[in-house]
Amino acid sequence: MIRFNSVSKKYKKSVAALEDINFSIEDGEFVFLVGPSGAGKTTLLKLIIGEIKPTHGSVHVDDYIVSKLAENKLPYLRRKVSFVFQDFKLLAERTVVENISVSLEILGKTTVEAEKRIEAVLSMIKLSDKGNYFPRQLSYGEQQRVAIGRAIAGEAKILLADEPTGNLDPKTSWEILKIISAINKDGKTVIMATHNVDIVNSLKKRVIVIKDGKIIKDEKKGSYS
Ligand SMILES: Nc1ncnc2c1ncn2[C@@H]1O[C@H](COP(=O)(O)OP(=O)(O)O)[C@@H](O)[C@H]1O
Ligand SMILES: [Mg+2]
Repeated sequence: MIRFNSVSKKYKKSVAALEDINFSIEDGEFVFLVGPSGAGKTTLLKLIIGEIKPTHGSVHVDDYIVSKLAENKLPYLRRKVSFVFQDFKLLAERTVVENISVSLEILGKTTVEAEKRIEAVLSMIKLSDKGNYFPRQLSYGEQQRVAIGRAIAGEAKILLADEPTGNLDPKTSWEILKIISAINKDGKTVIMATHNVDIVNSLKKRVIVIKDGKIIKDEKKGSYS
């Protein structure tokens, strides 16, 4: 469960990037976070992984009070919550399999367990035949799939995706959405920040709209215009 309790965030002395944000998200939900550029979407996601702290209020993920979590406890939170960026951040000198393995190494899996998990992840991201490719040998859409694979390979049960289709054409965006939907059906909670009106309106999932740092709409089976 994720819960925001009267959360505000100010960067330095500027106006609030988020103001009095309240919501909760149950395990297994799929939530679109939409709103214009500068609305506060990335700020909200960064608060969930504890990359930044709120100015007021509290952020909770299960039993963790993220807003109070000490720096040295963040790795425990990050095992629960993983993050996909718009610009992939893959390791250029590592293969697809090696990029995905990164999140397994720290979990101390045996080689057999890790190999099994990697096989399952490759199948989920539909790259079973390209495990030995390097990122430069892949299309943008395929690289984004690897980034998603890396994010879900470990034990994280919450996936945060910050405009994961922002640099992709419509067809490739839909392929990414299919994979993210499958991950959600597999039991993981998904929060996806996006501008993609077509995708949001087709999927009929919960939609949280933010504008100027405030939630202006929060609807089950929502839409966006
Ligand atoms: N590190 C930062 N320092 C100062 N202001 C920031 C910083 N990050 C974001 N902001 C400001 O906070 C507001 C919300 O930004 P952001 O969360 O990135 O919005 P979005 O992801 O919806 O485009 C914007 O006005 C932005 O300029
Ligand atoms: Mg953003």
